[in-house]
Amino acid sequence: MHTPKVYVATILVYVMATVLTILNLSVVTVIFAMLVLLIYHLVLHATQKVENEHRQKEERKALLYQLDKTQKQTHEAAGRFLTLLEVIDSGLLFIDENELIKEANETFNRFFSLGSIIGETYETLKPIKSLYRVVHDAFLKETKLRQQIVIDQQSYDANISPVFEGKWFRGCLVVIHDITPIKTAEMFQKQFTADVSHELKTPLSAVKGISEILMRETNMDAAQRQDFINMIYHETNRLEAILSDLLIISKMDRLDYELKRENTSMKALIDESVTLLEPAATEKQLTLTADVRDVMLAVDPVKMRQVIINLIKNGLSYTDTGGVTIRAHKQGSMYRILVTDTGIGIPKDEQAKVFKRFYRVDEARSRASGGSGLGLSIIKNVVQKHGGTIALESREGDGSTFIVDLPLIPEID
Ligand SMILES: Nc1ncnc2c1ncn2[C@@H]1O[C@H](COP(=O)(O)OP(=O)(O)OP(=O)(O)O)[C@@H](O)[C@H]1O
Ligand SMILES: [Mg+2]
Repeated sequence: MHTPKVYVATILVYVMATVLTILNLSVVTVIFAMLVLLIYHLVLHATQKVENEHRQKEERKALLYQLDKTQKQTHEAAGRFLTLLEVIDSGLLFIDENELIKEANETFNRFFSLGSIIGETYETLKPIKSLYRVVHDAFLKETKLRQQIVIDQQSYDANISPVFEGKWFRGCLVVIHDITPIKTAEMFQKQFTADVSHELKTPLSAVKGISEILMRETNMDAAQRQDFINMIYHETNRLEAILSDLLIISKMDRLDYELKRENTSMKALIDESVTLLEPAATEKQLTLTADVRDVMLAVDPVKMRQVIINLIKNGLSYTDTGGVTIRAHKQGSMYRILVTDTGIGIPKDEQAKVFKRFYRVDEARSRASGGSGLGLSIIKNVVQKHGGTIALESREGDGSTFIVDLPLIPEID
């Protein structure tokens, strides 16, 4: 392509020729002049060509650099994407329009242990019947499907989405979440509701039954009537205790539940609890002693007092002779509280279960003492919320020791 410079040179040639003709110069001079101009024109043209070539080379170089950069970026993005696919907590599978598995991440393999499936058709999913069926359906209908599947007691939520490029079906993306913890919590909640209903129903039925007798038997003697009234009182007390424990549990189960920590003298807290329960011990002719080293701990004093009181109460409830002793001292990085009784003890195979909600080793005995079976589960929850642990050492018929370890949390300012 000619640049303005070339045009200017060409015009100059013609202008010169015209001028020379006008000035009536000799033909040789004119030819010479024209030759000079032609050479000038050619040199200019050659220079221009070199310049153009150089510029094009530079442009090509810049373009190549840009292309290389874009390729590198794409490669890096693809790498990042693949790493993400691998580390993501959901199982991912991509099946193309020819029904071939093109991608299966590590999590998918961990969930279903199908071995190497890339390059296989999705028929290879057949061992996981429910997953295969829903993938197959999604392929047939080219539509989004969702299905919960259970394999080896694990629950999964499978989402199958068709992938389209414009209007062309390009395959299906399968995303699988492990929802076992949610399902377990759901089941736990259902069981808890059933247990609560059962626990409330028993005393309520008793109250109802006794009231009906009292209404019907108008000629009952005073002593018997009093017995029935006492029974109603006992059952309503139980109902009240269950409801108050349930309220504590539901408060502590809240995600935003926070302990109200205060710098607390553990000796003062334990001594207060002992003083409170001395009358109950005396009434059962049991001893209640404490040997406590003091330490200041940042605990929730109300909740921690409930822990100590409930452990002592249990000791007194399940002991007929002897008594309960509380010891407390520093043990490494922990403050250890031991509540020991000389009572009926807990059989080995029941020891883990007693911390479960509503669990009672001897239902009749616990009911007689007004127990709801919620005490130890609340104690465990409070101790854990303080960052501590609770353990149990016991032999049937030989007493029990509950051991609470609390971290020696520095005092709060
Ligand atoms: N010191 C103990 N000695 C023997 N058995 C015990 C002792 N502490 C608890 N248990 C057993 O563990 C069960 C659960 O105890 P937990 O304190 O949770 O419930 P509870 O005492 O029956 O009722 P509550 O909710 O009123 O405390 C009791 O029913 C009892 O069978
Ligand atoms: Mg109890």
